[in-house]
Amino acid sequence: MATIDTFRPEDERQITAMYRRVFGDAAAEANRLRWDWQYARNPNRPPDGPQIWVAREGPAVIGQYAAMPVRLMAGGREIDASWGMDVMVAPERQRQGLGEVLFRTWEQHVGAALGLGLSESSYRLFRKLRWPNVGPVPCFVKPLTRRALRRSSWPTPVNRVVSALTLPLVRAAWRPRPLRANVESIQRFGDEFTALWERVAPRFAFAVRRDAAYLNWKFREAPHVRYAAVAARRDGALRGYVVYRHLQEARARVTLLVDFLADPGDAPSFETLLGWVDREAREANSDKIRAFNLHAGFARSLKRSGYFPVKSTMEFTAKINAVQLPPSFYEDTSGWHVTLGDSDQDR
Ligand SMILES: CC(C)(COP(=O)(O)OP(=O)(O)OC[C@H]1O[C@@H](n2cnc3c(N)ncnc32)[C@H](O)[C@@H]1OP(=O)(O)O)[C@@H](O)C(=O)NCCC(=O)NCCS
Repeated sequence: MATIDTFRPEDERQITAMYRRVFGDAAAEANRLRWDWQYARNPNRPPDGPQIWVAREGPAVIGQYAAMPVRLMAGGREIDASWGMDVMVAPERQRQGLGEVLFRTWEQHVGAALGLGLSESSYRLFRKLRWPNVGPVPCFVKPLTRRALRRSSWPTPVNRVVSALTLPLVRAAWRPRPLRANVESIQRFGDEFTALWERVAPRFAFAVRRDAAYLNWKFREAPHVRYAAVAARRDGALRGYVVYRHLQEARARVTLLVDFLADPGDAPSFETLLGWVDREAREANSDKIRAFNLHAGFARSLKRSGYFPVKSTMEFTAKINAVQLPPSFYEDTSGWHVTLGDSDQDR
């Protein structure tokens, strides 16, 4: 009979070995490099240690539920919430009900249980548990070159034809516009970013608290990835920020629009930031820019700035316990702010 309790430092060796068996060597190594930052240094970490539940059978570790605590604005209140992240059951113990017990243990201890970018097995388990399914988070792409719409699953001749046919689209999307705010690079997120969050938070039905402590931890101190971040200022006042990075994928070079915040009603500021990222992406020879976004206001700005919605695989589930919310809350996500920078999606 399995028991579930919280993580102890001496579990680390067994958890790493299980991680290797479930997710493979490369993922286990990446997890080891990230672990201290991701779990121990999270500014929202509970005082008694990282938010990790462990399933044991005698001395053996047979499952884990590791989560990322955050503060969440939901339905007009700020509550404790938690992104489910590294969840796994030892391969020989899967499909015997242990995952369900781990998911429920996690959910009963947090004000809101959130899952983003679910695997096939966890997606099915969330469905089985009948949790609200609010995903996927829409994906937007802005093509910058003819290579933008290539796919690694298509043969080369098909990719060539697609490149040729989509050239007019690429040209139409690329209309450089003057920047309508001052844009400056961010070294550290200072207190004025917390003030920006406090100001715009009531504009969202759902959004993770993006204060300075969170932003510095997430986008300035992550050991596994380097981000660029810029702020928009108008009339001297901070209006928004965007976090991005460039990477090489199999068929194309991509700029990822990782995270952003602005008043969703302040289109000029957000669109100025998008214009800045356009220039940076071109400078970095990117073939396209990719963003994930749920909010209807930001979606309008993305489309006006030359982004197209494409198929998204970033599944999303949210179960809010700390505030009583009607089912309709989960049906209309047009006021929800969720990006690639949420949870541990960008890793
Ligand atoms: C996700 C995971 C933790 C679930 O643990 P588990 O002990 O197997 O889950 P349970 O036995 O409690 O629940 C089983 C339900 O989960 C879903 N499920 C679990 N594994 C599945 C699989 N391989 N394919 C499809 N559905 C699966 C099904 O809904 C299943 O219900 P069913 O058995 O009635 O069909 C486990 O499958 C796992 O470690 N997966 C690999 C790692 C992973 O994908 N982690 C999630 C990262 S987001």
